[in-house]
Amino acid sequence: MAETLTLTVTEVRSETPLVRAVVLARPHGEPLPSWQPGAHIRIKLPGGDDRSYSLINLRDDAQATTRPTAYSLGIRLEDPSQGGSRFMHALKSGDSVEVLAPSNNFPLNPGSEAVVLIAGGIGITPIASMAAALTTDKRPYRLYYAGRSREQLAFIKELEALCGDRLALHIDDAAGKVFDIRGLMASLSGNEPVYCCGPRAMIDTAIAAAKELGWENGRLRFELFTAAAPVAGDGAFEVVLKSTGESFLIPPDKTILDVLIDAGKDPLHDCKRGDCGICQVDVIEGVPDHRDYILTDAEKAEGKKMQICVSRSKSPRLVLDL
Ligand code: FES
Repeated sequence: MAETLTLTVTEVRSETPLVRAVVLARPHGEPLPSWQPGAHIRIKLPGGDDRSYSLINLRDDAQATTRPTAYSLGIRLEDPSQGGSRFMHALKSGDSVEVLAPSNNFPLNPGSEAVVLIAGGIGITPIASMAAALTTDKRPYRLYYAGRSREQLAFIKELEALCGDRLALHIDDAAGKVFDIRGLMASLSGNEPVYCCGPRAMIDTAIAAAKELGWENGRLRFELFTAAAPVAGDGAFEVVLKSTGESFLIPPDKTILDVLIDAGKDPLHDCKRGDCGICQVDVIEGVPDHRDYILTDAEKAEGKKMQICVSRSKSPRLVLDL
């Protein structure tokens, strides 16, 4: 389990009408655990739940991650069902937060080949940290940063200073069309790795394009920035824990993980987006409704394991090996 840190909010500023930059440090500025691009911290919310936020570094300075004295975050205000961002947007300088030390499910692999970085909206946070590390390492890269309007794109000035002409912005409103991620992927002539972080629609399009273009497994690496959200037609179902026989009703607007945490259980978890695999459990009975990015199509069809942070149930009852 990652170390728990008690940190103080040292700076809060509005980057855009929807995005707030928050800086956290130890009370007397003592060094913090190091991290690598793609890493996130988990911030504890009132009530015991937590949310993951990617760390952002916008400076060509390795010490910002190897010997940090502050953690910087960019937080988008999400819809009201995702209470974490409202808590984060209410923070002010001097407030104290409990934080689980950095961990990384979206690492930038070492190497010398050129890299393509793609960010949609607040997905820029891990991607910007990768751009900073690649700049420091003098490794070639290109960063494509897309959003609906200029107002939705945070940290533009810093990115322009960091990346120069390696940065390509796409603003849907100005271009009169959405970012063509498939077209970009089809235009890549080498075998360069692509790192993508953005909303579910962007990630789903990128995964479909990688399959269609016949890319090798692993060439496209991605991370979602949105947590599980209810889908129209979602219903309630029952979950039974094999170890104790306890039964829980999972309502349409909550995940299995949320209900178990609310009940005082402590199931293993991290991303809460279905892309790290840490919350995976075996299914003893019932038919899972898979919504993760971990299992293969064959594993999903088999229905023997599931990610309880996002996946639901097609049967009225699931018995889980918990
Ligand atoms: S917590 Fe990451 S997949 Fe569920």
